[in-house]
Amino acid sequence: MRGVGRALTGGHRSDCNVAAMEIREVAVVGLGTMGAGIAEVFARAGISVIALEVDSEALNRGMSVLDASLSRAVDRGKLAAHQQAEIRGRIRPAAGFSEAAAADLAIEVVPERLEIKRQILAELDRVCSPDAILATNTSSLSVTAIAAASKHPERVIGMHFFNPAPVMRLVEVVSTVLTRAGIPEAAADLARRLGKTPVLLGDRAGFVANALLLPYLNHALRLLETGYACGADIDTAATVGIGLPMGPLALLDLIGLDTSLSVLEVLAAEFGSPRFTPAPLLRRLTAAGRTGRKAGRGIYDYVDQSVAAADQEGNGAASAAPDTVTLIGSGDEAEADLAGALASAGINVTRNAAHPTDLVLVAAAAARPVLPAALSSGRPDQAVGLHVPGGLGEGNLAEVVRTRLSSEAAVESTAALACRLGLQTVRVPDRPCFLVGALLYPHLADAVRMVEDGYASATDIDTAMTLGCGYPQGPFELLDSAGPPKVLAGLQAMHAAYGYPAFAPPLLLAEHAAAGLGFAKVGPAH
Ligand code: 3HC
Repeated sequence: MRGVGRALTGGHRSDCNVAAMEIREVAVVGLGTMGAGIAEVFARAGISVIALEVDSEALNRGMSVLDASLSRAVDRGKLAAHQQAEIRGRIRPAAGFSEAAAADLAIEVVPERLEIKRQILAELDRVCSPDAILATNTSSLSVTAIAAASKHPERVIGMHFFNPAPVMRLVEVVSTVLTRAGIPEAAADLARRLGKTPVLLGDRAGFVANALLLPYLNHALRLLETGYACGADIDTAATVGIGLPMGPLALLDLIGLDTSLSVLEVLAAEFGSPRFTPAPLLRRLTAAGRTGRKAGRGIYDYVDQSVAAADQEGNGAASAAPDTVTLIGSGDEAEADLAGALASAGINVTRNAAHPTDLVLVAAAAARPVLPAALSSGRPDQAVGLHVPGGLGEGNLAEVVRTRLSSEAAVESTAALACRLGLQTVRVPDRPCFLVGALLYPHLADAVRMVEDGYASATDIDTAMTLGCGYPQGPFELLDSAGPPKVLAGLQAMHAAYGYPAFAPPLLLAEHAAAGLGFAKVGPAH
């Protein structure tokens, strides 16, 4: 059916009927992990695909990735063998640009280097019909700068897919000041045909998802390299403590450390904030070729299919739970719940610090240091904080908070106690917001700043992060469930402690906290 792929309603092509254009044949240029995934997505939706890769080895590798993905779906009973054959039959591997001549849309998925992308656009200009839409899957580069290399920049659009492309449901559709009316809508319609949800955006570094995700991942890496927490604990804090599908370090390995580094460099150049300055460890691992899953090694080691953090300490408890505990708290509900849970677990609890007990347990709160309570007990070496951000439910996360004076034995005893209560543990220093809050609150502040900047609405940001990154709740839903005053207090404590501008609470957050107003489904910032 090549050459008859374009059907325009009304017979004439004009700016306003682009949206009605039916896209039947697509060229995917570049068959790395993302390109192969995107080719699969198109073919699954019944669209013919020219899978274009000029390097024949890379073409074979890309087709193997695609074949493996389809076979995995058959093995898992998600796809019948005849469907696999039909999908595969729609994909035509090709090594020359002339093969893309009949494409209604061509999308480039080549490495994140502006000059390469601009060359691809020039090639596509040469071979494709002037009516064809040219799309870029760039994750961070300026779509405008890429479009400007085309003879027809008005038909160039960003269509940013997420990894793994067959699974993640978001497509960021990015238009520039040059984009012709109707093209973004046509790209959005196409995304819907693929079973994805489009979010329409203007051209800004990192768009929504990467501009929020990458600084959060970068911060997690800084926490690792400064020894704030071990890798396993950082990832557990995100998955068990926040409910995210992957920890930030595992996600960096999935995205690729080299890709993450180049996205951060673009973000740093555009926004200038140190929050985007790549962690030195990111540069070192990338330079060492430890670029993540695709290389077999990144932050974790995937050799022999085993996943072992370089610094993994193990999350279990190395000693026995205490029989007697002195509990110190602020008399709030969390402390009362903890006292009840300890008693139910058969542990003797006293509030009197003078009683000789095995452990002094401080019922900790995110924005309050543990050390003053530990000192007040008179036995600070035996005092450790316990913070349960999601409450005391079975399988929830416990942050075991060590002060500068806590003994190793007391820390391990607290971890054992938390295990006895059915909690999963992470060990954290007595620093504001411990680990879960230290990861989450600056991330939420970034999302609020994005609304404040007028770049995207809270709803679009929530859509982007749930569908693009698998968040169970978007940042604004997370913010509302934590409560703006609590997040504000956490950020204020972090900002006061570190003086780091990125931790300064956004004005809009302070306003919502003062007004007692949630964020979800709230309109523009001003
Ligand atoms: N390719 C194709 N399908 C895949 C896949 C892959 N690489 N990995 C997983 N899947 C499929 C599985 O086959 C399975 O499908 P099924 O439900 O139909 O059987 C489904 O995904 C779930 O997989 P698993 O049960 O093996 O694993 P999980 O439930 O742990 O989910 C995950 C894996 C979907 C990757 C999940 O952990 C997740 O959502 N992680 C977050 C990923 C993320 O944030 N992506 C965005 C990164 S940023 C980005 O890409 C932008 C770029 O510009 C940097």
